[in-house]
Amino acid sequence: MALYYTTSYGSPVNEPDAAQRVSTNGPLLLQDYHLIDNLAHLARERIPERLVHAKGAGAYGYFEATHDLSDITSQTLFRPGKKVDATVRFSTVSGEMGSADTARDLRGFSIKLKTEQGNLDWVLLNTPIFFIRDPGKYPDLTHATKRNPQTNLKDHDMFWDFFSSNPETVHEILFLFSDRGTPDGYHQEHGHAGTTFKWCKEDGTFHYVKLHVKAVGGFKTLTAAQATTLAGTNPDYGTQKLYEAIKNGDNPTYTVYIQTMTLEQAQGQYRNIALDVTKVWPHAMFPLREIGRIVLNKNPENYFDEIEQLAFAPAHLIPYIEHSPDPLLQARLFMYPDTQRYRLGVNNKQLPCNTPIPKFVNFQRAGAASFVSQGSRPNYLSNIFQPLKFDGPTGAIDSQIRNNHRQEHFDGSVYRDLSEITVDDFVQPRDLWLRVWNDKERETFVENVSEHLKLVQNKTIQYNQLLIFCHVNEDLAARVASAIKYEGFECPSTN
Ligand code: HEM
Repeated sequence: MALYYTTSYGSPVNEPDAAQRVSTNGPLLLQDYHLIDNLAHLARERIPERLVHAKGAGAYGYFEATHDLSDITSQTLFRPGKKVDATVRFSTVSGEMGSADTARDLRGFSIKLKTEQGNLDWVLLNTPIFFIRDPGKYPDLTHATKRNPQTNLKDHDMFWDFFSSNPETVHEILFLFSDRGTPDGYHQEHGHAGTTFKWCKEDGTFHYVKLHVKAVGGFKTLTAAQATTLAGTNPDYGTQKLYEAIKNGDNPTYTVYIQTMTLEQAQGQYRNIALDVTKVWPHAMFPLREIGRIVLNKNPENYFDEIEQLAFAPAHLIPYIEHSPDPLLQARLFMYPDTQRYRLGVNNKQLPCNTPIPKFVNFQRAGAASFVSQGSRPNYLSNIFQPLKFDGPTGAIDSQIRNNHRQEHFDGSVYRDLSEITVDDFVQPRDLWLRVWNDKERETFVENVSEHLKLVQNKTIQYNQLLIFCHVNEDLAARVASAIKYEGFECPSTN
């Protein structure tokens, strides 16, 4: 059928872009509703960008389970051959929507799996850890990495003032100022859940799980110099590379793994790392177990409709996959849906990009832009008019809450202990510096971090950060001090 141009209410228009005026030298006519409608619509095109992760790129594909996980979870998505549609969005974190794809930053890697039991969102970063474990610090972290309220500039003093005041961030600082902080485009990198989830079984048992998504072909990075040049010559480098890879049939492919920890391990020997997102679970103790693969094979037709309006949330879980008590995750469970109610509206789950496969059957009604009708069904719990089943297709919703013999038990008063710094906070960063990295990687870190830290005006801030590096390793601190020309710096004696 031929396409013809219409107004927003569907009526054909012959001269779409021609305004009506009085005579050939007169003013416009208010009766020209089509012109007014178009201008008014244009004025409302922008919606709030994401508070964080505003710049990004997305694509479609699928997740296919390759291994049987029935010993870990009763969720049947994780059975060999099971395949579901996936929508993926990659992003930088602290820049605005038009900022450069190659900026030194963490990267977001979000995956929405549309399953028969609802949407399962994996909301990942390209590092296995995060800066902080106390969500109370999240607003400060976000503000310190954004613009100075007076100058409206990114501000090195603000940035390092925050990090040098919060020593638990040093592990992530090592990742950020390695070449992992400048990935080569969006799609040639790994994604890590960082936060711990619970994968449960019908019998009420569960494992704590960390998810990892690894790019087949490896994590490709840029040097600081390459990233800086590209930020000027092609700020949309990552977006373009992803689009072109898929267009050319070089479909980005990832292998998906989990690490698992038992409740006994989490409450015993590994208590200090189980639910702390500033720490990794060492692979020697918690080996990677392959579960499936993700393939990206289709570009969106329309970025705004299909990618910008996506609402990812770690709260979007399906039966047998549950949140853990990890405090940072608990805060995220609230904040993502909350920011999306503001950014996209209360009915954002009804947008085609977000809508789940199962029909909405609940008592949420009306609100702005409600367009998925639940018809005449009762809008309250009724045992007489169309009683609902609450068991779901598998009888599994909140299964382990019902069979709670294996739930964690919490007991005690009110604590504010998440910001407490202990020697433990420096063990893994020290390992990364001394044992995981080679000479070249150590050299690159010192160069990258010094280039940034030397721009700080306030000497006390530089000193505080050097002190944190001393706790990781004295040689590291000395090398950074020398590179930023901090005269006379020495790590305090530990005796
Ligand atoms: C207290 C800690 C955190 C809070 C409060 C927080 C909050 C937020 C908020 C408000 C957004 C914007 C969402 C939107 O507008 O749709 C966002 C985006 C995102 N966050 Fe977090 N975040 C936290 C930590 C983390 C961690 C630990 C990870 C992953 C390990 C993560 C991964 C992401 C990703 C990938 C996005 C982009 C989602 C997209 O593409 O739409 N965040 N976060």
